[in-house]
Amino acid sequence: MTRRVAIIGHPVAHSRSPLIHGYWLRQLGIDGDYVARDVAPEAIDGFLADFSASGLAGGNVTVPHKEAAFRACVVREPVADALGAVNTLWLEGGRLHGANTDVHGFLANLDTAEPEWARALGEAVVLGAGGAARAVVFGLMQRGVDRVVVANRTLARAEALRDQFGPRVLPIDWRDLGGRLNGCRLLINTTSLGMKGQPPLDIDLSALSPDALVTDIVYVPLETPLLKAARARGLATVDGLGMLLHQAVPGFERWFGVRPVVTAALRALVIADLKA
Ligand code: ATR
Repeated sequence: MTRRVAIIGHPVAHSRSPLIHGYWLRQLGIDGDYVARDVAPEAIDGFLADFSASGLAGGNVTVPHKEAAFRACVVREPVADALGAVNTLWLEGGRLHGANTDVHGFLANLDTAEPEWARALGEAVVLGAGGAARAVVFGLMQRGVDRVVVANRTLARAEALRDQFGPRVLPIDWRDLGGRLNGCRLLINTTSLGMKGQPPLDIDLSALSPDALVTDIVYVPLETPLLKAARARGLATVDGLGMLLHQAVPGFERWFGVRPVVTAALRALVIADLKA
């Protein structure tokens, strides 16, 4: 029987996950199916509680259901526990299991683009303190970064990350960002600023170290105003599309038993779709 997996969200029509997984299924000749399933917020708890009735072998979970998925899983991987959010589900022995692959996606994207990025890094600056920032901060701590400055419009949310991850996280009000960028070698935007339809992220990059790496988790557009400004200064940049592609890898392997590869052809396919 064909194994069916879905991206579960609300709304979900914009998701590129069916394109990504569909590509791998075709390339690898696997008898599987990956669809989009829109589940309304009032229906999600019931849907997950009776997941085996959905006909799905597993799923990805996106906005706004990652916390509901976290609560619904009987067994969770440690990273999902640390983040309080699940984006990958599967049934095992009739029980719902969950993982969070955003940390893997973030780290694998940087590792692929700039293999030496974490070496002797010292301090990193993260803009934003939402769910995406939590995954990024967790990944940076895992890689042994000495200090992670979290700059957010709402200071209390940055402080919550410090309370969770400990004193290596330094929360600041993002209006105080200026001085913190002196000599900074890794800057990561996790806010929605710069996304199509949102105001641009407009910060002064002149104090960054000349060997700084600037990365954005926004990937629509691929070259955000932040990345454009960084490139204009001759800084290295990594766009956010790789994080989307790499976060999909562990789920596919879990459901279909083969570890897929993020290739240039897949990247080109998704870029063409984003432009369409
Ligand atoms: P996600 O789960 O994708 O990280 P989120 O939890 O809504 O989404 O977080 C969005 C992040 O973008 C937050 O850091 C938010 O700042 P606040 O915590 O102050 O809300 C930030 N953000 C969104 N719009 C912003 C804006 N116009 N100016 C500054 N920060 C903004």
